[in-house]
Amino acid sequence: MKRFEACIFDLDGVIVDTAKYHYKAWNTIAQKLGFEFTWEENEQLKGVSRVDSLEIILQIGNVVISNEERQSYLVLKNDIYLDLIKNMNPSEILPGVEDFLRQLQKQEIKIALGSASKNARPILERVHLINLFEVIVDGNEVSKGKPDPEVFEKGAKLLNVEARKTIVFEDSISGIIAANNGGFRSVGIGEQKNLNEAEYVIPGFKDISANDIFKALS
Ligand code: BG6
Ligand code: MG
Repeated sequence: MKRFEACIFDLDGVIVDTAKYHYKAWNTIAQKLGFEFTWEENEQLKGVSRVDSLEIILQIGNVVISNEERQSYLVLKNDIYLDLIKNMNPSEILPGVEDFLRQLQKQEIKIALGSASKNARPILERVHLINLFEVIVDGNEVSKGKPDPEVFEKGAKLLNVEARKTIVFEDSISGIIAANNGGFRSVGIGEQKNLNEAEYVIPGFKDISANDIFKALS
């Protein structure tokens, strides 16, 4: 019996570096609302759905708007984001990711995506990684956002694996908490100071083998 049977990956900030595009789009919205918000404040938006992100932005700027205005800002944010990602290509896959996924495939470890984004599928297509994912659960398929474990639980169910034998890779604190809440093993991608709840933290997949991760979690 294998100790680990599956890996579930977040998309933004784990597979591809799209956090900068989300930030750019939200900052344009913030400017329209009359303020700037910082890259540090952007940390709070990681892993958070589009609708919830707008609420955080409004709180940061201390701005009150109507529900109609909310709807139009949500559409505008996504239009700006879609324009920024329209020419994405495989050069925007984060270092070491593709090799890591292929190592898992060779070892017959199942691979899924668990993302809050409603734009996950076209991004995976544009960077030519979509065929490596057996299961994709994205923001279109969940009703509860991270830190609720729904997105990972759905992925594990579709893969037919148990949470305790599944490793979740996440760059956001809400995603790490979601993984822990669901009984998954959790690996943080980024800086230790932002991801203290993760069982293990790596800066990225560059020079990291699948076996390194399995050993660290054993
Ligand atoms: C998450 C990102 O993966 O997806 C968030 O970390 C983003 O920043 C969320 O808000 C929703 O993405 P989208 O593409 O549906 O607006
Ligand atoms: Mg992320």
